[in-house]
Amino acid sequence: MTELLFQDNIALIGFMGVGKSTVSHYLRDQYSMDEVETDAMIVESENMAIRDIFEKYGEPYFRDCEARAILKLLDCRRTVISCGGGAVMRRENVENLKKSSRIVLLAAEPETILNRVRHSDSRPILNGHMNVEYIAELMEKRRTAYEAAADWMVSTDGKRVEEICEEIVQKLNGMVREKET
Ligand code: S3P
Repeated sequence: MTELLFQDNIALIGFMGVGKSTVSHYLRDQYSMDEVETDAMIVESENMAIRDIFEKYGEPYFRDCEARAILKLLDCRRTVISCGGGAVMRRENVENLKKSSRIVLLAAEPETILNRVRHSDSRPILNGHMNVEYIAELMEKRRTAYEAAADWMVSTDGKRVEEICEEIVQKLNGMVREKET
């Protein structure tokens, strides 16, 4: 296990299918961090699958649950926070995440995303829109918010999870050293 220098949380943001969960699990295991997924918090608090929450109560209700989940994370330390793909579209969520986390944007090409999510029906935003054009369009609509929220971005296309996490940890440790000098 590698020693971590930083105490901050790492909040992973980015479009559905960029690899947030995979990266999050790896960081948790390699660096003995705690891990939370905002979607999992919502499923637990609502006792319902995300798909069912969208269907029964609609997206605004889901977004309120998401904001409440993020608020609960203010006191976490050394935790990887894997955020639902739409979480940083709300400014208050970004402000709350920034209070305790470095925010890392994971990015991938629309084709890569489609390959990763095409067989899943658990993402209501993409149900009925499983094609590159729709993904590219939605990604573009979200791009400014993603980039504005992020401390920095890591592309995941064609990279192994080890490489992605190495990039994240090196960057974070570099930031800590900069702050100390
Ligand atoms: C969403 C992404 C999903 C989940 C919900 C909405 C989005 O999370 O929060 O289906 O709006 O991008 P993942 O990014 O983990 O798939």
